[in-house]
Amino acid sequence: MSAPKLKAPRGTFDVLGEQSTVRATVEARARAILEGAGYERIETPTLEATELFARGVGASTDIVQKEMYTLTDGGGRSLTLRPEGTAPVCRAYVEHGMHKRPQPVKLWYLSSFFRYERAQAGRYRQFWQVGAEALGSEDPAVDAESIVLLGALLAELGVNARLRLSSLGSPASRTRYREHLQTHLREHEASLSEEVRGRIDLNPLRAFDSDHEGTKSAMRSAPRLLDYLEDEDRAHFEEVCALLSEAEMLYAVDPSLVRGLDYYTRTVFEFTSEDLGAQSGVGGGGRYDGLVAELGGPPTAGMGWAAGIERILLAGSPPASGTATPDIYVSWTGSARRAAFGVLREARSAGLTAQMELANRSLKGQLGQAGKMGARYVAIVDEAETMLKDMQGGGMQEKMATGTVVHAVLRRLRDL
Ligand code: HAM
Repeated sequence: MSAPKLKAPRGTFDVLGEQSTVRATVEARARAILEGAGYERIETPTLEATELFARGVGASTDIVQKEMYTLTDGGGRSLTLRPEGTAPVCRAYVEHGMHKRPQPVKLWYLSSFFRYERAQAGRYRQFWQVGAEALGSEDPAVDAESIVLLGALLAELGVNARLRLSSLGSPASRTRYREHLQTHLREHEASLSEEVRGRIDLNPLRAFDSDHEGTKSAMRSAPRLLDYLEDEDRAHFEEVCALLSEAEMLYAVDPSLVRGLDYYTRTVFEFTSEDLGAQSGVGGGGRYDGLVAELGGPPTAGMGWAAGIERILLAGSPPASGTATPDIYVSWTGSARRAAFGVLREARSAGLTAQMELANRSLKGQLGQAGKMGARYVAIVDEAETMLKDMQGGGMQEKMATGTVVHAVLRRLRDL
């Protein structure tokens, strides 16, 4: 009896073949855009102390309440597979004393994240995000620059996305607003979904996110946070909007925009694409001026975003970075394996992309394989003699000493 086959866990996937080259393009474009704007790459660990997310992301969020992969390690510590990247980046900023550097410190990442969510197209349990965080300045130009960079990345990758924008103000204005919203929700309690009713005290803002018909209709007449902003926050938001207009960035102010994480203050935004169906959020983020202090650091402003790589791939059309087609395919028959191996090594040290026959196919099979790989030349090595065959341009064939074949290919490629 054969052993049962194993599958990748639900909500996870393997990255294969062309997919990995398309992802490499996304990464290369992100790197070019973000490093060109002064962002430095950061890698943080896959596992973090559970407390980082409980404190950073917020105890009342879906992420912390039901989506974290948490384990206890051999030393009894509670660790969690990172569900997002902002809290880890802030932890690293504090841990490495980055507040002593010139501000803002700009950091970017492309990593995988983990959330125990209901898996479906565009929503996975292990997914990849590209993210950018700018720490240490509350200047509205930081917000605008950050948003414009994500807009540029999405445009370059062929993602057709709409930008929605709002401001959540300061924690003080939010508290004042929350009370008004709670009063409104209690007045309409009978038409609300059970989930929203259960969260009136803990997280009333999430009511704006609900798909429930009764809740949606109650929310149409709900007070809007934007009307409760303090003067400084309103001026900050107006400046962000003006800078985006200056950059000719199209956006819609959407006061019902809420994000699933608790750390936001002031600017929040989301890029959505109609090409995605239910999971329409391609990327989003905002300001989190209280997060670094919440994690034990000095009071530090922060602004950033993350975009899902799988959603970019679903909604966009990033070009595959050409798979390396071989300049030369080293074919061999009989007992010429070692001589062929020598040609392979010599070709690679001369800077050619080279592949060798590795499956002991018939000569016909080998030529077929070289054709499938798109090889330009095939060297059919037979000990001291080699037949060099041009796979394009009329199929020239020429017999030569095996020791000269790499030179012959280099010369021909140079003369092309
Ligand atoms: P988020 O909105 O939770 O924000 O995630 C950002 C993006 O990650 C989403 O727009 C979506 O494209 C992708 N994403 C999220 N969950 C999944 C999933 N289960 N499967 C596939 N893709 C997913 C954050 O994570 C914040 N840390 C963003 C941020 C950075 N805010 C400030 N700085």
